[in-house]
Amino acid sequence: MSVNQLPEAFLTRLPAIVPEPCLSAVTASFERPPPTCFRVNTLNADIAQVLAELRGEGIDAAPVPWRRDSFVVADSARQALTRSAAFSRGRLYIQNLSSIFAAQALGAEPGEEVLDLAAAPGGKTLLLAAAMENRGRIAAVEAVKSRFFRLRNNIDLYGAAIVDCYLKDGRQVGRQVPERFDRVMLDAPCSSEARFYTADPASYKYWSEKKIREMQRKQKQLLHSALLALKPGGTLVYSTCSFAPEENELVLDRQLRKWGDQLQVVELQPPFGNCQPGLSEWRGKRLDARLERAVRILPGGAMEGFFLCVLKKLKSHFYSD
Ligand SMILES: C[S@@+](CC[C@H](N)C(=O)[O-])C[C@H]1O[C@@H](n2cnc3c(N)ncnc32)[C@H](O)[C@@H]1O
Repeated sequence: MSVNQLPEAFLTRLPAIVPEPCLSAVTASFERPPPTCFRVNTLNADIAQVLAELRGEGIDAAPVPWRRDSFVVADSARQALTRSAAFSRGRLYIQNLSSIFAAQALGAEPGEEVLDLAAAPGGKTLLLAAAMENRGRIAAVEAVKSRFFRLRNNIDLYGAAIVDCYLKDGRQVGRQVPERFDRVMLDAPCSSEARFYTADPASYKYWSEKKIREMQRKQKQLLHSALLALKPGGTLVYSTCSFAPEENELVLDRQLRKWGDQLQVVELQPPFGNCQPGLSEWRGKRLDARLERAVRILPGGAMEGFFLCVLKKLKSHFYSD
C-alpha cells in the first residue's frame, strides 16, 4: 500500500499545512501502524505492579519521560497488551501520547467541576478523573448512542467514580448550564486525518473537502457551547486529530474575533519536539495572531498528529463591555 492511495485532494493540501522539511516524515507516517502507548489507571492500580505483571506476560514497556504513568510498547506487543490481564481489568488504558498530552494540558485539579463535551470512548475523561484523584465532578457528554454506552462501560470498568455521563448533543450544553464549569475539554469530532493509515482504507475513504466543511460547522457550534459553559477565569482545551486548518485554526479564529480580549490563548510548552505553532494564515486569509500559540503536534516516534489550543475565558459573557 502506498501513500498515493490516499485522496489526491488531501495530499495536494498537505504542503500548504506542513512545513516542507517535515513533509516527507508526515507523509511516511500514513504508511505505519499507529504507535502503541498506554497509561496506567492510577485510580485502581499501582504503576510498578502493572509493569511487573506485563513483564511476566512478556511485554516490555518503555517509560515516557514527561509522564510517570505512561509507557510505549513495540508494535509487535500491541496484541499481547490488549490480551493482558491489566487491560481487561481496566488497570491500563491504551491511548496515544498526543491525546494524553491534550488532556493533560487542561490542568484539571482535584475538587473542580469539569465538562468533557465530546467524551466517548472516554480516554481523556479517564485521564481527567485520575488527575483529579476522583475528587470533584466530571460531566461527560456524548451524542452517539453506541459510543455513549462504550463510554459508560469504560467509566465503570476504570473506576472513575466522579463522572456523570450524559447522552446528549453537546451543542445544547452551554445554553443549559452557562458558566458552570471550571474547565472544559472539547476533543472535537473531526475528519481524523492524522489517523489515516494506508493499510486501512476505511480510515480515509470518506474524506472530502465537503466533509471537512460539515465537520467545521459542528465544531464551531460545539466550541461556542463549550465557551458558554465555561466559568469566567476557566480554562478550555480545543483539540482534534486533523491537519485541516478549517477544523482547527479557523474554528478558533471565529471565536477569538467574536470574544476579543475576553479570551486569552495560553502559551504551551510541550515537553517533546516535532511541534509547529498554529497557522497564521490559510488560503490568503490572515488569522488571529494569538493562534500562533496553538500547537500542531506532527506525527513521528510515539506521537500521532494532533492539534490543540488552550483558551482562558477572562470575563463573564453576560457582562461584556
Ligand atoms: C474525537 S472523539 C472523542 C474522543 C474522546 N475525547 C477520547 O479521548 O476518548 C469525538 C466524539 O464526539 C462525539 N460527538 C459527535 N457529535 C457530537 C455532539 N454534537 N455532541 C457531543 N458529542 C458529539 C463523537 O461521537 C465522538 O465520540
